[in-house]
Amino acid sequence: MKRFLAIKDAHLEKINTLKKDKRFNNVPAQLVYFHDHFRREGEEMMNSKKVTKRDFQNFVYYLNMHHRIEDTSLYPSMMKQFDINKQDLNNLEKDHKIIDEQEEIILKLFDEKASQEEIHTHMVDFMDLLFTHLCVEEMLLLPYMLHMRSMH
Ligand SMILES: [Fe+2]
Ligand SMILES: [Fe+2]
Repeated sequence: MKRFLAIKDAHLEKINTLKKDKRFNNVPAQLVYFHDHFRREGEEMMNSKKVTKRDFQNFVYYLNMHHRIEDTSLYPSMMKQFDINKQDLNNLEKDHKIIDEQEEIILKLFDEKASQEEIHTHMVDFMDLLFTHLCVEEMLLLPYMLHMRSMH
């Protein structure tokens, strides 16, 4: 959780400022709504001592869907509408790939009947990676999203 904890406070401050903007209720709020869901569920899974493969599969099913929509629809649409740094978006896409790979590793641990302790250690690292990604994505995209009319 080191990476995430290092940026958490600054991020919360920024989000709270953005939330006061009346344009926030349009597109940006949708992104934060989904992210909050992943943060809530992810935190619960990370703190539980008896996560099943099915729990994790359900979690990553919606997470992957969210990431594919970003890769194929949100990011291209933002590229078109704004003078946004392409490398920054590429880095976010790269994060999605790393998250996919880590998911596979955790699923394999379940298949190999790894101990809850070992799974927990990987789960904490996975959530650190994911929560950091969600924060970085919000910090980068939300200021642009305040000016968006729709996601498509
Ligand atoms: Fe993302
Ligand atoms: Fe996202």
